[in-house]
Amino acid sequence: MEKIRSVKGMRDIYGSDALLWSQLEACMSALVAQYGYQPIRLPLAESTALFCRSIGEATDIVEKEMYTFSDRGGDTLTLRPEGTAGCVRACIQHDLLQQHQRVFYSGAMFRRERPQKGRYRQFEQWGLEAFGMKGVDIEAEIMLIAHHLWHQLGLSDSVQLHINSLGRSESRQHYKADLVAYFSAEHAQLDQDSQKRLLTNPLRILDSKNPNMQALIANAPKLLDYLDESSREHFEAVCQRLDSLNIPYKVVPTLVRGLDYYNDTVFEWVTTELGAQGTLCAGGRYDGLVAQLGGGHCPAAGCAFGLDRVVEMMGEVSDITSGVDIYVVAQGQAPRDHAWSMIEQLRQNRPQLNVVLHAGAEDVFKKQFKQADKSGAQLALVVGDDEIVQKVVQVKELRESGDQATVNIDCLPEYLDNCLKRRQRW
Ligand code: HAM
Repeated sequence: MEKIRSVKGMRDIYGSDALLWSQLEACMSALVAQYGYQPIRLPLAESTALFCRSIGEATDIVEKEMYTFSDRGGDTLTLRPEGTAGCVRACIQHDLLQQHQRVFYSGAMFRRERPQKGRYRQFEQWGLEAFGMKGVDIEAEIMLIAHHLWHQLGLSDSVQLHINSLGRSESRQHYKADLVAYFSAEHAQLDQDSQKRLLTNPLRILDSKNPNMQALIANAPKLLDYLDESSREHFEAVCQRLDSLNIPYKVVPTLVRGLDYYNDTVFEWVTTELGAQGTLCAGGRYDGLVAQLGGGHCPAAGCAFGLDRVVEMMGEVSDITSGVDIYVVAQGQAPRDHAWSMIEQLRQNRPQLNVVLHAGAEDVFKKQFKQADKSGAQLALVVGDDEIVQKVVQVKELRESGDQATVNIDCLPEYLDNCLKRRQRW
């Protein structure tokens, strides 16, 4: 019978990759908790209108990437392509914006893009959103959290922070007019996509990756030159705060982002190590979105990490292969019964150890050791009839030396502490 395969661009995550995901998530939960971010859990599907109104009708996401469908009741729904819109909708709906809020969410997002390394149709984001706070502190805090994360993951040397200011919408209108005039004068040099964007979303031309357009883009008017006084001061203050926090950054005047809701500060953490899909985390300030979605005026800022890409990077620097520390092999009914109680006691004594009992009931030792090896465990504990009588257990090194030692059962936890080199855990 023909096997059913996963949908194009939607991946299964398993083995050591799945372990890296768990470690990343644990690391991020602990980190954002330190800064007072509270979890929020949001639906995967929302009314399509939510994304059209927030992300913008003329963006790639809304124009061509959303998974939109009519449900059996005739409602038009969309699988969320990002988390900010749903988060704002929820905060308005549940009246959470009467006070400052810092929330985080994680989960699957859906965009029907052309799949390639680092770009999937179902991918995971970890998002931070902060509401009610004007001023640069909250933007700096969000970038600082990312900065710490890279450090904790050992990725600091592989990522760069790019920042820009989009100013306020009035200054953007002036800029847009000049940009359209500039690109219109060079119309023949624009590729097809950019000719279309000239009519719908001219700022996005700056984001083009087409090498033939780079000189034209480099000479285009710069948004930073159009900022009003308050946006200019705000951007300078952001840069100063990053300097004082010792967070290196590069001002990239062509950084415009692919979603329409931003104003003033925008930023992306990028790497050159993942090919074309090098943005690991992106965000900025979006002071108008809450009002746009029917809430009152409420300044806001946030970012989202693309976990698929971060895990890809972690895979490069991590030697983690398995979450199993100890594999227990036992042959015969009495040794198996004994092994059960021995390892339950061990799990209580040493909760940090991951201990797996071989569960193929009648398997001979050879087969059990094969599984032990495949499990990635560093040690095997071996229990036979003699071990029960002598109140000992055999501890066999599975990875390096292959040595085996006879250990008194009462001394087992301390023995394991000494000989088990703990694998790196974040
Ligand atoms: P975004 O730039 O569209 O921003 O996505 C954030 C991150 O999600 C990207 O930098 C990337 O790492 C990851 N990502 C996006 N698309 C894909 C894909 N097809 N496959 C794999 N990873 C992907 C937002 O979504 C905003 N909501 C961020 C934000 C939060 N702004 C303010 N608050």
